[in-house]
Amino acid sequence: MQIFISRPIPHSAITTLQSAGHAVTVSPHERPLSPEEFLAATAAADGLITMLTDKVDAPFLNARPNIKAIANYAVGHNNIDVPACTAHHVGVSNCPDILTDATAELAFTLLLAAARRAGESERHLRAKNWNGWGPLQFVGVPVYGQTLGIIGAGRIGARMAEMSRGFNMKLLYHNRKPSPALNDLGAALASLEFLLKESDFISIHVPLTPETRHLISTPQFSLMKPTAVLINTARGPVVDEAALAEALRTRKIFAAGLDVYEHEPKIHQALFDLENAVLLPHIGSATTTARANLANLAAQNLLAMLAGNRPPTPLNPELWQ
Ligand code: DGY
Repeated sequence: MQIFISRPIPHSAITTLQSAGHAVTVSPHERPLSPEEFLAATAAADGLITMLTDKVDAPFLNARPNIKAIANYAVGHNNIDVPACTAHHVGVSNCPDILTDATAELAFTLLLAAARRAGESERHLRAKNWNGWGPLQFVGVPVYGQTLGIIGAGRIGARMAEMSRGFNMKLLYHNRKPSPALNDLGAALASLEFLLKESDFISIHVPLTPETRHLISTPQFSLMKPTAVLINTARGPVVDEAALAEALRTRKIFAAGLDVYEHEPKIHQALFDLENAVLLPHIGSATTTARANLANLAAQNLLAMLAGNRPPTPLNPELWQ
């Protein structure tokens, strides 16, 4: 069968697909495809490996009745209309679990960097502006023993909570239902309002859904401590980026650490000018291990679906019942 992969990925996955007898085409571009390019490139494909930048919706599926299976190279799948895929009998999978460590590590990187003003002070030094140690220079907020509020108690939120134990942090979490993993770590389930008021660090780990879009906006910033630090490694639109920029500018909160943005790759212009924003380019899963595992799991998922079998991590398992 014909497989199209919309970005170059680790080669082991391509070899796996070819060894199973499939013809594989990989986009040559080191950038997301435009919707027109994506549509044109998938004209003959039976199966796809898609990125979070590829939109798969009903009009796309109507235009591409040839497609039988889609393996999303991500744990997040807000780029794919799963019910529409199910209605078209197109199997879909994602890659849960294997990027848990990588993403939680990055959330913690952002937490520490934002708390201790690492980006800002490094920029100062690299600009050759540093004139020696100073008692009032780049004073940040402490991390050890502070309260971490986790919004979304899935695997990544739970792993971040686990990592925070090394910093003796008190833990709150907000989730639709109690999480045994977080309860075991001594975390207290809290309303969003209580968590926002009480936390020194707030880390977002919810998927993007209609309910979580702009979950954090002006009213939520007004509840936070002026020393609070907001971390987002989940999906950009969960935070109202304009409201965040305003909260940072007016020092309603101390700092933010972001790996994801509302309109990627565009970033709200005001954020570029704010020294108290640590900005990373969506690299949550970018470790050698996580990316190799993503490639291999996406390939295994696609192989299974193209053979008519239930994939290891399906998003519409009802297709194989
Ligand atoms: C995911 O898998 O959802 C990540 O955002 C990709 O790095």
